Amino acid sequence: MNNRSDTSSTLVRLDEYRAPAWRVSQVELTFDLGIDTTEVTSRLHLQRDPAQDAPLRLDGEGLELLSISLDGQALDERAWRYVDNVLEVDDARDGSVLETRVCLRPAANTALEGLYLSGPRERGFLLTQCEAEGFRHITFFPDRPDVLASYKVTLCADRDRFPVLLAGGNPDGHGELEGGRHWARFVDPHPKPSYLFALVAGRLQKIERDYVTSSGRAVKLVIWAEPDAIGQCGYAMDALERSMRWDEDTYGREYDLDVFHVVATHDFNMGAMENKGLNIFNAKYLLADPDSSTDDEYRAVEAVVAHEYFHNWSGNRVTCRDWFQLSLKEGLTVFREQQFSADMNSSALKRIEDVALLRRAQFPEDAGPLAHPVRPAQYSEINNFYTATVYEKGSELVRMVAGRLGREGFRRGMDRYFARNDGRAATLEDFLGALGDANGIDLMPYLAWYAQAGTPRLSARGHYDAAHRTYTLTLSQHTPPTPHQSHKQPLPIPVKLGLFDRAGGMLPLHLTADSAETSGATERVVVLDRAEQVFVFQQVNDAPVPSLLRGFSAPVILECTYEPADLALLLRHDPDGFNRWEAGQQLAARAYDNLREGDGTGALDAWCEALEALFNDSAMDEALLADLLTPPGEIELAERERQVDPSHVHALRQQLQEQLALRIGQQALQRRYEALVSHTSVQLDARSQARRRLKRRVLELLARIDPWTAHAQATLQYDNAPSMTDRLAALSVLVRGNASQAHAALAHFRERYADNPLAMDKWFSVQTQLPGELVIERVHALEGDAAFTLKNPNRVNSLFGAWARNNPDGFHRTDGSGYQLLAERLTQLDALNPQIAARMATAFNGWQRLEPSRRALARTAIESVAAHVGLSRNLNEIVQSMLHG
Ligand code: PHE
Ligand code: ZN
Repeated sequence: MNNRSDTSSTLVRLDEYRAPAWRVSQVELTFDLGIDTTEVTSRLHLQRDPAQDAPLRLDGEGLELLSISLDGQALDERAWRYVDNVLEVDDARDGSVLETRVCLRPAANTALEGLYLSGPRERGFLLTQCEAEGFRHITFFPDRPDVLASYKVTLCADRDRFPVLLAGGNPDGHGELEGGRHWARFVDPHPKPSYLFALVAGRLQKIERDYVTSSGRAVKLVIWAEPDAIGQCGYAMDALERSMRWDEDTYGREYDLDVFHVVATHDFNMGAMENKGLNIFNAKYLLADPDSSTDDEYRAVEAVVAHEYFHNWSGNRVTCRDWFQLSLKEGLTVFREQQFSADMNSSALKRIEDVALLRRAQFPEDAGPLAHPVRPAQYSEINNFYTATVYEKGSELVRMVAGRLGREGFRRGMDRYFARNDGRAATLEDFLGALGDANGIDLMPYLAWYAQAGTPRLSARGHYDAAHRTYTLTLSQHTPPTPHQSHKQPLPIPVKLGLFDRAGGMLPLHLTADSAETSGATERVVVLDRAEQVFVFQQVNDAPVPSLLRGFSAPVILECTYEPADLALLLRHDPDGFNRWEAGQQLAARAYDNLREGDGTGALDAWCEALEALFNDSAMDEALLADLLTPPGEIELAERERQVDPSHVHALRQQLQEQLALRIGQQALQRRYEALVSHTSVQLDARSQARRRLKRRVLELLARIDPWTAHAQATLQYDNAPSMTDRLAALSVLVRGNASQAHAALAHFRERYADNPLAMDKWFSVQTQLPGELVIERVHALEGDAAFTLKNPNRVNSLFGAWARNNPDGFHRTDGSGYQLLAERLTQLDALNPQIAARMATAFNGWQRLEPSRRALARTAIESVAAHVGLSRNLNEIVQSMLHG
């Protein structure tokens, strides 16, 4: 590993960006592939920027240089030097061709960056991962996204061991070599940055489909997987076809090569990768079948397939000038995927899911020591910036701008953006500039959102004046300080709002400033772009109930003095499913406050009463109902505490659910469960999914008030489950309830799915949800299971990630044993895979807000990691920020 912190801890800064002194117009690569050693020959056609006078310097990490020549002449040792991961070559000229030959060791690469082996050496396959800076682990190159080159790649390997040879681009011949070897060549005509390079070689099987784009271009779609998994690729193929059609219909964007390859691997650091013409997926986001995948996983497969495909335009054809612009491709592509998923499924449920994720993952990030702007100003290790802030908050920023422009205006803007920047490496200014220019609007004020970290607090006060029939709404904003950024400026915050009468109807809006055409709509957007602003609505006959931030129109925390009764009214009557859920979440949070403070039960009663009514309303959408019956998670509720005791938060949330279950009543829950359980469809249609979702929720609520019966039912459900969704739901209820039946069910699952790694991940993670006091012992036991390994990221996440992140009560033990265990594993993991170790370390986020005794123990644990010698740059940056951020 070469990214140990002692070798380099320098910061890269946005304001120090300089255009490259040397570019590469064309790359010719030849790989002599082998599992233990691979030789890479590279020929770079160099271009010098005449305005700069810097020697040729190429990135290269851990490369064993075998030979080097310039313009056909072998270079003398004095004509080049390779120090500190940089190869400097003297006497290169504009137009020179530099040829290098290096040796790589794929089987020894446990960091899963560069060229590595997936699976066991007897039958595994070779593949590459280059984003963000993996290409420098393969060959010498100006490894930065603003160097775009065309690629010609030749792969040579033993035919028996590596029957399938793939690289990005169009196929350009293949043939036999001596000694049972063969070769295949690929040419990518579209210039691309090095991070989009990929190759795959091994024993893989495929499914294929012919696709014709709207303009008539024929494309071969091919999904590759290992033999035991190829039967689970059909759903991804359907999702890919839907994604391609959708991008043509919605954005007028077509695919641009003759083939599109997709490959599944079980050994991957992230979700998936958009390599040009050769997407590589974590198997978790590609494989799906009813026996081993849940409904949520099916939706995740569809979303990730779409996301990676959409990158072909937002990321590949238009790429990033530098890694500070990462959200230019990621925020935009997440947004495009969210639109797609909303169109394919229910838009309300999709919005609920995304906002819940933002609150669970991004808000805490923005409130803690790792807070950073969507466009960071500096980094030590770029891999630490593939965060919820860059992805999810980044998508919310695109959504605000899209909302500002309207559907047609946004499309016009995107057309302009693609036209101007196609084949270029662009910036966020280019993005906002194109969108604004196409619409005659100055969007640059939104840049402030990209530069400022922290979640703004939006406060609202309403005043009704009966004499004048006016309703005055005062909006104000404030963003608390974040590390390295103590002064915050006001941001443009679009607030979509409506006013309700007491019967739950929406009132026509007449804002003082309105023109005749805009007056009278029942929903509209006002933009707060100062610290405080006042909006006056006319012709309001009765004191209204305001509904603010509809659709979650800006990524802010709304602090509003709603009355519980007002929230209950919105929860029951809002015509929009998302807004209904949102009112319910706010009300549930207030109900939580009631329980904590013992200050009355106003909100608790209102919440339970409204949900009881909805539960008994036969017209209610079943999936939405399931979401309405789910209070905010423990991480979100903990944000309401000054000092966090995670066990207390857990206990209060359990009480909240118990109160709800009691209010609905054991009998009503029971009847509903029985009605739902009689549907045994394994179909993926919305109705069937909705029933499974509600079935799970009802069973969970039953378990709060009648565990004995609920566990008996869960056992039956487990035994008879027609799908993984039902099976896992039942197993989860048994485990969380520490039911006596859990043991047998877990043993059965272990045996049944022993050969299915993705199902085994679920077997590990479900057990991390044991009640708090029991779980550490179980985590220790599971580490000893033959199927556990620190080398596989999915497995590590399914055990340590699920435990430390999703079971706060079980991680934050009062004796600090949870912190110690994680700290020990982090340093072990770091020696194998720094990216995964660094990401796992973020589970300590929020430690500064813990109650004093846990806080002290957490600090000690984090300090013990920081004190370790030879930490990677990745992990070092995270623990340093944790301690000093
Ligand atoms: N760019 C990938 C994506 O869309 C994420 C990724 C980053 C994958 C770095 C691998 C390495 O979302
Ligand atoms: Zn992406």
